[in-house]
Amino acid sequence: MKPYIYITRKLPDEVIAPLLEKYEVKMWEKEDVVVPRSVLLEEASRADALLTMLSDQVNEELFSVSTKLKIVANLAVGFDNIDLAAASAHGVAICNTPDVLTDATADLTFGLLMATARRIVEAAEFVKEGNWKSWSPLLLAGNDIHHKTIGIVGMGSIGAAVAKRAFGFDMKVLYHNRSRKVELESQLGAAYCSFDELVEQADFIVCLTPLTPETRNLFTRAVFKRMKDNAVFINASRGPVVNEEELYDALVAGDIAAAGLDVFDKEPIDKNHPLLSLSNVVALPHIGSASIDTRMNMMRLCVENIDAVLSGKEPKTLVKK
Ligand code: DGY
Repeated sequence: MKPYIYITRKLPDEVIAPLLEKYEVKMWEKEDVVVPRSVLLEEASRADALLTMLSDQVNEELFSVSTKLKIVANLAVGFDNIDLAAASAHGVAICNTPDVLTDATADLTFGLLMATARRIVEAAEFVKEGNWKSWSPLLLAGNDIHHKTIGIVGMGSIGAAVAKRAFGFDMKVLYHNRSRKVELESQLGAAYCSFDELVEQADFIVCLTPLTPETRNLFTRAVFKRMKDNAVFINASRGPVVNEEELYDALVAGDIAAAGLDVFDKEPIDKNHPLLSLSNVVALPHIGSASIDTRMNMMRLCVENIDAVLSGKEPKTLVKK
């Protein structure tokens, strides 16, 4: 009997083609609907490998029904949807998709920063809605980006790639991270500082830190109050790092100028969420790594990792076993 691989979202046929000779492969048939929990548990109970999305909770409940499971390949660099301790206890390898998405995610993060600072989305809607009556001196004027200070919270590979882009815009780069990145300091003149110094000094505060118990609810009203009142806050990491109610209050009270958000506490965010009613919020549907080439590379990496583990080899990008 061939080993069984279950994929929790419909992926292009060409991605799974390399698996079909050696493995039995089944996919959840929908591209844009999360696999129901009961289906996932049922499939997990007979799967040798799972290819999961960040919307799937891979936890003790799942591992305890999965008697044959050897690997979970998560289609994301983040793995906060996976209980690593439970995976380890059940001897299941966890793989993610680092590196292949670094530049695409940095491009989107910097694009979101630009769109938010220069009010690009609001301006495009203004034209399409027929509101443009004349050129005028301060029409939809936003904040400068060049020569300003960017503060990056979470200087992993994506943070470093954003810093490179910022350097190209003649920005001063501050960063806060668990460890110093000495090479970035010499290459880009990036300056390490405390979280407090960063939020007080930066014109753009860019959150790229992974979601951990330490970073959950990191950005509160007290933090927004310490920012400059023309600061722009960007979040491209995970929603729960930000207290959304308090971000809303901060934006309404004018503690900061604007926010660009690619991630939310609850995804998809409800269309009636108060944050979406604000014209100084640019909201995107968690598309940091969503270029076609990058998403295809992420899928291929998951497939390679699954094939490696099921063939008794080392996967390329193991998080933890
Ligand atoms: C990740 O990889 O963690 C992103 O959030 C989704 O691409």
